[in-house]
Amino acid sequence: MDGQRKTIIIGAGVIGLSIAWRLCRRGEQVLVLERGQTGQEASRVAAGMLAAAAEVGFEEPELYALCRASLKRWPSFASELEAESGMSLDYSSFGTLIVADDRDATEALRRGYQFQKDQGYPVDWLSGAEALEKEPFLSPRVVAAVSVPEDHSVDNRKLLQALVAAINAHGGDIREQTAVEHLDFSSKQIRVETAAGDIHEADRIVVAAGAWSAGISGLSEAIRPPVRPIKGQILELKMVDPFALNHVIRGPKAYLVPRKDGRLIVGATSEEMGFDRSITVGAIHGILDGAWEVVPGILDQEILSIDVGFRPASRDHQPMVGFTADPRVFMATGHYRHGIVLSAVTATVSEQMLLDGSTDDVMTFFSPLRFDSPA
Ligand code: GLY
Repeated sequence: MDGQRKTIIIGAGVIGLSIAWRLCRRGEQVLVLERGQTGQEASRVAAGMLAAAAEVGFEEPELYALCRASLKRWPSFASELEAESGMSLDYSSFGTLIVADDRDATEALRRGYQFQKDQGYPVDWLSGAEALEKEPFLSPRVVAAVSVPEDHSVDNRKLLQALVAAINAHGGDIREQTAVEHLDFSSKQIRVETAAGDIHEADRIVVAAGAWSAGISGLSEAIRPPVRPIKGQILELKMVDPFALNHVIRGPKAYLVPRKDGRLIVGATSEEMGFDRSITVGAIHGILDGAWEVVPGILDQEILSIDVGFRPASRDHQPMVGFTADPRVFMATGHYRHGIVLSAVTATVSEQMLLDGSTDDVMTFFSPLRFDSPA
């Protein structure tokens, strides 16, 4: 592979793997270094909602536009990945019902509905009775709902497996249990020293280490990403017949995401607890209570697992994607609650930036250079 650029990607979560796939399918030499196991952190614990507005605030129009741009790219991203990996992602067209069960939540819902309408996204306002007709397991306490038929979801764990298969098929190299000890930028080639003492040389690196991105030794303070972990606790239930949901349900305090295979993901907390992996009674009680308020039938479902993940949040809670002040260092981190939905746009625009020297205007706002100024 003489003469080829070599890219080392730090982090084998959904973002690192998606970029690795897009690069190696174009013939680039790619090495992915993962401190633990592939896709075992935030990407595995995610719910896999492909929704533009559900978790984006009114004050984040650029992020909303980025999610919309990613949703547009998702159908071809998913079909290319399925074809190249030979695996299904369970890319599903279950739409979302955002529901309200009191006056306060209804007012918030109305503002969200108006925002989505103003942005031209297809949304419908439903009465409680209309919502119940679409989704019979909703609580009769639901007084209003917004139906978002174009939202999708994906099985994030299948997505991760498919990315690994596609990277392998294209000759990419993923090394697990390979923590980066230090990066040395003193020569033209970046020297990457692993915790085991191995040395790899790269023309450039991509930082995609999620919540661990700030801790990489050797990154200068000028380009170190201001990213911290936001803990999320989440449950996986088994839907027992006749109970079934055919929409993603978002209540005021919890979301419920059905999978085609009969699992139901119910989440999630948002906690400033650092890298604390404990599962707590209060958190699980809060999630289940919030889910029960809008879908009482969950009480009869079986709990399959409870998980903890660490969302990577930047200082402004928005992703960082692009070159840093050092053109050998590319940042793709800080995706916070939006890593799965944004993987399509992040990977395809990163591919453009890294291989073609072009970009997409929708990504300009998310340049990591925005954190270079003290303001
Ligand atoms: N996007 C789901 C979550 O962060 O909980």
